[in-house]
Amino acid sequence: MSRKRIVAGNWKMNTTLEEAHALASEVARGAGEEVDLVLIPPTCFLATVLDATASSAVSVGAQNMHPAASGAFTGETSGPMLTSLGAQYVVCGHSERRHVFGESSAFIGEKVSAAHANGLIPILCVGETLEDREAGRTDAVVLDQLEAGLQGLESSQIPGTVIAYEPVWAIGTGRTASPEQAQEVHASIRARLAERFGGEIAGRVRIQYGGSVKPGNAAELLGQPDIDGALVGGASLVASSFLAIADA
Ligand code: 13P
Repeated sequence: MSRKRIVAGNWKMNTTLEEAHALASEVARGAGEEVDLVLIPPTCFLATVLDATASSAVSVGAQNMHPAASGAFTGETSGPMLTSLGAQYVVCGHSERRHVFGESSAFIGEKVSAAHANGLIPILCVGETLEDREAGRTDAVVLDQLEAGLQGLESSQIPGTVIAYEPVWAIGTGRTASPEQAQEVHASIRARLAERFGGEIAGRVRIQYGGSVKPGNAAELLGQPDIDGALVGGASLVASSFLAIADA
């Protein structure tokens, strides 16, 4: 089953307007077509990054969205807003949303459904804490987050959903899951998708790994059979390292 690789750069709360434009322009100049490349800047710079990448193969996504289409939700961004800008992807349930901002798996599931309803491709993030892993709860936690995240979807929407496995203990810590550790969880995710939606659909879903991905470890991680790409934080803030990960 061949799945096109997808490498996405989550810039988190970094860059100024000028830096965002310069970084996106440099990535756009170096981007090839063999891999789907996605830039995920802060929401306030989406228009700038869309402009800088307009005539390139690079797609653009948002870091978060609210499930409602509009209304009294101060500080939030809706699906129709993202679609009207030209964004194509949206991250749902990043571990920082879950753990720093207290978002529940059910709320994240609403976001995933709303993303599809607005024609956006959700990147649903799942991942265990170090405490979960040490207690032997990795699969239970990750698969619960997966089930809740996909709860509102029809089978036909599953292949158009990207899953990102990001162990919380590997995010921004310089500590990466070993390729074997990551592959094991990716295989469990795909097995659960196959149980729920059938093997053909499960075989089409792209599952990214995230957590301290760097040019030096990307090839080994992406060489695993169920790892279909990377969700990159820190290393995506330097165009040459982000492009080197895509090359790997
Ligand atoms: P780092 O690559 O900085 O560890 O961040 C990973 C991440 O959270 C991407 O969403």
